[in-house]
Amino acid sequence: MNKKLLLLPGDGIGPEIIAEVRKLISWINAHTDLTIDTEEDFFGGAAIDAYGVPLRDETLEAARKSDAILMGAVGGPKWDNVDYSIRPEAGLLKIRKQLDLFANLRPAIVFDALIDASSLKPEIVKGLDILIVRELTGGVYFGEPRGIEDLGGGERRGVNTQVYTTSEIRRVGKVAFEIARKRKGKVTSCEKANVMESGKLWREEITRLHAESYSDVTLEHMYADNAAMQLCRRPSQFDVIVTDNLFGDILSDEAAMLTGSLGMLPSAALGAPGSPGLYEPVHGSAPDIAGQGIANPLATILSFAMLLKYSLDSVALGEQIEAAVQTVLAEGLRTADIMVEGCKKVTTVEMGDAVIAAL
Ligand code: NAI
Ligand code: MG
Repeated sequence: MNKKLLLLPGDGIGPEIIAEVRKLISWINAHTDLTIDTEEDFFGGAAIDAYGVPLRDETLEAARKSDAILMGAVGGPKWDNVDYSIRPEAGLLKIRKQLDLFANLRPAIVFDALIDASSLKPEIVKGLDILIVRELTGGVYFGEPRGIEDLGGGERRGVNTQVYTTSEIRRVGKVAFEIARKRKGKVTSCEKANVMESGKLWREEITRLHAESYSDVTLEHMYADNAAMQLCRRPSQFDVIVTDNLFGDILSDEAAMLTGSLGMLPSAALGAPGSPGLYEPVHGSAPDIAGQGIANPLATILSFAMLLKYSLDSVALGEQIEAAVQTVLAEGLRTADIMVEGCKKVTTVEMGDAVIAAL
């Protein structure tokens, strides 16, 4: 099987952490049935320096022709004062919008060896592996009307509008159900159907979609405030959580804290079936440590594992890489950001090599 992957290392530690994934790709091409052909381009600040814009049309075209895109990170102090329309972040927003990436996937995985980094007790988070699917292009962050009105006499009114349509709810629901089939087979759909019409519609449409096409998956509905509570109380009850843009923003940050370390968190943004998904670590370009060879490559390696599972039809291979990460952590290898007493401190390159060795 041949697949096409576009690599966009970006800025800061981006090139250092993407280099570790390139080693994994060589390993896959040499040792498995899967062949990954890669293309690579400047993105973000690096593209501003090379081409004068954060995202070239040629890059976007290459993205459209790929099965998936893996990004490092963009931005840094060097580009903080350039005009907003050509800032590194503008490239990120443009690629998400142009590829219509409406589903944001944020896993929260607790690795046994890093269990002490969690803000919860070990017995509550042990073995945790949940995935939040957040609707990313609709809801209250985009709904009209919006704005701040002057009512006179010193009184003002701020307005945002929560809007969801049937098709917006169904397409993100489909992503959640499809992914649940590749996981433990359970979806928890979160809204506030008790007090919001958009939530009531959300619940009705998810219920209908489930009955039509996904009755093999277990569906449960939960009010978002209760979900926030349950995530702290007994997070292991969840497999896939699907929710709107606003609740997803909050619940995904809460879930991230169950795991502890920023350098360990992968993410993905998916569009319509057949269109390429964009995968990237949750962290930024870490300019404070760039060029020192000490960045943690594991969030990017885990993003690549998600890419294999959700965009390249290679679930087993993705799981194999996740298991290899568990192994190197269990062996006590740590980059500086997750270093604790009694462990062995390693560089970015040494961590990447150790993952290959574990494979
Ligand atoms: P950051 O995530 O880059 O760094 C926060 C702290 O975590 C820093 O001390 C950094 O050294 C550390 N850190 C982050 N990733 C690490 C890793 N893999 N290994 C070891 N340590 C790591 O966030 P910050 O400092 O707020 O932003 C820096 C730049 O990154 C800014 O220009 C920002 O706009 C950009 N950024 C880009 C994102 C993206 O490309 N999606 C997301 C977040 C920020
Ligand atoms: Mg947030």
